[in-house]
Amino acid sequence: MFELIVRNASLVDGRNGIDIAILDGRIAEIAPRIGAEAADEIDAAGQLVSSPFVDPHFHMDATLSLGLPRMNRSGTLLEGIALWGELKPLLTIEAMVERALRYCDLAVARGLLFIRSHVDVSDPRLRTAEAMIEVRERVRPYIELQLVAFPQDGYYRSPGAVALLERSLDMGLDIVGGIPHFERTMSEGAASVEALCRLAAERGLPVDLHCDETDDPLSRHIETLAAETVRFGLQGRVAGSHLTSMHSMDKYYASKLIALVAEARIDAIANPLINITLQGRHDTYPKRRGMTRVPELLNAGVNVAFGQDCTMDPWYPLGSGDMLDVAHMGAHVAQMTSRTALRTAFDMVTVHGARAMRIDGYGIAVGARADLVILQARDPIEAVRLRAHRLIVLKAGRIVARSEPRTSRLDLPGRPQTVDEADYAPTEEGARSA
Ligand code: FE2
Repeated sequence: MFELIVRNASLVDGRNGIDIAILDGRIAEIAPRIGAEAADEIDAAGQLVSSPFVDPHFHMDATLSLGLPRMNRSGTLLEGIALWGELKPLLTIEAMVERALRYCDLAVARGLLFIRSHVDVSDPRLRTAEAMIEVRERVRPYIELQLVAFPQDGYYRSPGAVALLERSLDMGLDIVGGIPHFERTMSEGAASVEALCRLAAERGLPVDLHCDETDDPLSRHIETLAAETVRFGLQGRVAGSHLTSMHSMDKYYASKLIALVAEARIDAIANPLINITLQGRHDTYPKRRGMTRVPELLNAGVNVAFGQDCTMDPWYPLGSGDMLDVAHMGAHVAQMTSRTALRTAFDMVTVHGARAMRIDGYGIAVGARADLVILQARDPIEAVRLRAHRLIVLKAGRIVARSEPRTSRLDLPGRPQTVDEADYAPTEEGARSA
């Protein structure tokens, strides 16, 4: 006897009318019609049932702090960093934990159950690390939170950062971070990449650097990161976040570079909401988009994921914990409008993120964790198009969030009384034959 059967699911791979049986918090069977009984049943009614959303790049210590102590007037990355520097001395552990927990509530409601957060470890008191470790424990029953030791003010540029980063890892942060483009010089940036990869190799940890988050085409720290990844044997456990300089690079050089990224098996994490708003700020017209070369990296076999980066903080006044917003923006900025590319955009906020975060047991497969999201959409493209409503979110086979279907009541002569956004779409079959 199963604990739960989710009946009549449509899956991301295109299968329809599928039942998913759950036992001991894991997926026990997937079949068109499961005859066995279960203690509980959910009728998915043909809606899309997906694995949860994954955000491989976030800043949980800064989230929901918008307006503290003031707004970012220029809208630039550098003013955001300066503003965060003004806020840091004022931060309390209690307030950071409270804001992060509120954000995590929002995330769960949106089916976002896996988050990698960079934690600023520049302040000698390391309150941010202490607060985020507490949050990681408190949300563990419903969100897997990975924490990156992130030297926001520079590994070499900020006094004491080298020791602070090690101390924060000793406290229990999970991943080695860095910000080579913010060091004083290109050579110090390259030296920081070497040192951080060495540290990760010594401690057996993954690496995730903010790398080349700039419009400067000569910011080439990703090249060094690829080389050091190979030299230290870190292939498969290094991520390059942002990589926006690649947008502005010379085409010949980029073609050589992308092959190096693929060789080093570096995960590329683009952050479309933030890249499109922070980059190109020094341009007049034409204005660059600033996001990294997503289709080209994908074509080279690189695992490319989309992250959210910020929600209502010194860098970004919007955001809502919704990875479908991120996929929607990413599809626009990268011009991923073919049917295949749009499906890939959905994968980039689910399976690609899970790959970058090395999540065990992720996916809809027998033996995988019974973490599922039922969306008010019939397929992944519709989910991206509508930023579809999340009807039910399951963690280890238990419902952790649910909401009523989103419909509007109309009062129009001769028209239907209700509108369900999904009813207005051609079916996937129709779209294919069009
Ligand atoms: Fe970031």
